[in-house]
Amino acid sequence: MSKTKTDMILEQKVNALLAKMTLEEKIGQMTQVRHFEITKEEVSSKFLGSIIHTEGPTPGETATDWQLKFIELQKQALSTRLAIPLLFGVDAVHGQNTFNGATIFPHNIGLGATKNPELVEKIASITALESQATGFNWVFSPCVAIPFNEKWGRVYEAFSESTELTTALTKASVKGHQGVLSDPHTVMATAKHFIGDGATDNGTEGGHTTLSAEDVSKYLLPPYQAAVDLGVGAVMASFNTLDGISMHAHKALITDTLKISMGFDGIVVSDWKGYSRFGETDIINAGIDMVMAVDGDLDTYQKGLKEAVGNGIVDQQRIDDATKRILRQKFRLGLFDNPFPDSALIEKIGCADHRNMARQAVRESLVLLKNKDNLLPLKKDSKIVVVGEFAENTGLQSGGWTVHWQGMTEDYRGAISILNGIQQLATNEILYDIDGTKNYDADVAIVVVGETPYAEFFGDIGGEINAYQLTLRQEHQNYINKYAEKGIPTVTILISGRPMVTTTQIEQSDAFVAAWLPGSEGDGIAQVLFGDYDFKGRLPHSWPKSVQDYQGKYGPNLWDNSLEPLFPFGYGLSY
Ligand code: BGC
Repeated sequence: MSKTKTDMILEQKVNALLAKMTLEEKIGQMTQVRHFEITKEEVSSKFLGSIIHTEGPTPGETATDWQLKFIELQKQALSTRLAIPLLFGVDAVHGQNTFNGATIFPHNIGLGATKNPELVEKIASITALESQATGFNWVFSPCVAIPFNEKWGRVYEAFSESTELTTALTKASVKGHQGVLSDPHTVMATAKHFIGDGATDNGTEGGHTTLSAEDVSKYLLPPYQAAVDLGVGAVMASFNTLDGISMHAHKALITDTLKISMGFDGIVVSDWKGYSRFGETDIINAGIDMVMAVDGDLDTYQKGLKEAVGNGIVDQQRIDDATKRILRQKFRLGLFDNPFPDSALIEKIGCADHRNMARQAVRESLVLLKNKDNLLPLKKDSKIVVVGEFAENTGLQSGGWTVHWQGMTEDYRGAISILNGIQQLATNEILYDIDGTKNYDADVAIVVVGETPYAEFFGDIGGEINAYQLTLRQEHQNYINKYAEKGIPTVTILISGRPMVTTTQIEQSDAFVAAWLPGSEGDGIAQVLFGDYDFKGRLPHSWPKSVQDYQGKYGPNLWDNSLEPLFPFGYGLSY
């Protein structure tokens, strides 16, 4: 690739700064920690390169507090000899979801169902804005995994099982987040988790991915290539192993493939505690540039890396390359000129425009799987009973990574429940049977069922924790049974992070809607149920018929011809 003049000027700046740096300063740049694990003084004494927030104590109560906290740390970084600004990273994976009161969009699986790149781009730009408004210039999103097995607890973080659709939406997401990187209202994006996160055997988070090099490049690499071509700033390494090697230490894939063949010149960041978990300095030699040195890893990492350079285990050139990659992104982000967040953005957090966009995304993400005798759209003056605790709980409708890592089972600020949305549009009083114990008579029942929020390995089915199943829990099956047996026409709304085995429940229901994890604007659902808008969503995953379908590998990419899905990828009805 020929270098432009801007590239050359950038490289000169990077090289000039690098030339002034000591080994400690370089290792400092290669370090990322949580804001509450360090003192302000350590930002400068350890020359830290990046601060993150995910789970744990928040940087404050209000968005102003968050900004002030990060401004304080940034000032400390700028007080060092070379005044290199910090990167502030956050897991904003469906909106700035770590801030209670931000706009929470449908999780990526729902965006996959919209198949709408323009919408995904707008959502990403809003997420960037709300992230900047809370003090961040870097997000750990999008997850561009291709889930091969729905038992994986992170299926919903990915757009789709289709490489093609994932690639299209990855492009939109990277564009939306980064815009023009130097614009202080955009953020650096991260394509994650490189590579094979969603394709592990049996869908185990951090397990082994048994795929040939050919399959990796055919099915998994295209979204990364698209992200790299659009200048994505960072790529996060994955927890899984591939070829029997931890991905964090997989030099052939990280350095030879991603950096050299695919032309990625940004930052490869490790995942959680990458250093102590995946081979210490092996991961640096493999090509990891910045280490998430959290949970007590900070000192062992910095000391260990320094020693490894001293005794020749890690080459000085590798350290220089990593540091240059980090500095390059800091220059591209314009942080040397504009290191602080803009306080004028605070009023945009959760504003009406952003919520309208989220509501549109909810509407477009809904996939209508069945509509017997055109039960839908519902009449606004029908006598309606709404059933189930998921209907009136905004935490339950939003999934993992909502305010908390594992999500919430209570309401959160500014969010509207599904029940609320129905109440707003219906002209009659709505009956509500929270736990299926009431004996209401009605023209129609809207039964809301689903999976309680989870994140990462907590959501693996049959894994370490194993709290989830591929079928609906018994109480939820009972809600549907009860109303169907009463002969009341039943609409089932499924809130889930993946397709579930609901063959019986689909038979029992007159209408069935896959609503994924809609996020804060639950009223988008009622707008479609009552026919103010049509159903537009199409399945981003094939929908399995039975639990047996999940044995081994499952997915269109490696579709086992003997398996026939209940509904194919791309299915979805409209009015
Ligand atoms: C997850 C990443 C996330 C990181 C930081 C890890 O456990 O795998 O997706 O970005 O934590 O919170």
